[in-house]
Amino acid sequence: MANDDGTDWAGYYAWSAGREPRPLLLAACEELGAGRGRLAIDLGCGEGTDALELLARGWSVLAVDAESAGLAVLRARIPPAAAGAVRVLCASFAEADLPSAHLIHAGFSLPFCAPREFPAVWARIRRALAPGGVFAGQLFGTHDTWADDPDMTFYARHQVEVLLDGLDLLRLEETERDGHAFSGPKHWHTFDILARKPLIKRPPAPAPR
Ligand SMILES: C[S@@+](CC[C@H](N)C(=O)[O-])C[C@H]1O[C@@H](n2cnc3c(N)ncnc32)[C@H](O)[C@@H]1O
Repeated sequence: MANDDGTDWAGYYAWSAGREPRPLLLAACEELGAGRGRLAIDLGCGEGTDALELLARGWSVLAVDAESAGLAVLRARIPPAAAGAVRVLCASFAEADLPSAHLIHAGFSLPFCAPREFPAVWARIRRALAPGGVFAGQLFGTHDTWADDPDMTFYARHQVEVLLDGLDLLRLEETERDGHAFSGPKHWHTFDILARKPLIKRPPAPAPR
């Protein structure tokens, strides 16, 4: 069944049931090592596959999504022994209060943020990243099939680079390919982003003389 904006997220969760954790999330975990109780945020966690992977790797997890259907699936999958290490929050990106975290993952979710909300959401993600912490997630590019949807956010590469300014880029991979989504065939234009917040704030570059 579709939600208020017409997106059938419950159908998407059923379609993607049994998927593996996102490779970009696993790459972030490799960068950061075992969670050892540190906080990871999974933004737009859907049915929770990546949040559960984080739990299994020893992270405390804040799992955020605006759709209660996915969160219900996640809640049912949380191993009882890990229940104390996870908080499940039903909230939009714009509403969610983001505590300081060493890992923020947003798997194929941030492009569904409305363009008018995205700058503030992105600023809060950057603020919430602890020094040395890693952001892992996708943005969509302007050649994507869905790029004419006014309720979604798309960026050209130079704009993505501006968003990432001041972070240490571990990976910025732009991909264009024809493929499929839950909604059917589509052209994917994506940016895979893995970026680390520097431990020490860099001084601004000297003004040109
Ligand atoms: C394509 S799914 C991705 C789910 C999961 N991260 C994955 O990799 O399969 C996008 C998710 O973002 C959530 N979402 C979309 N817009 C949102 C918003 N404004 N605030 C919070 N969650 C949102 C949807 O409910 C959905 O679960």
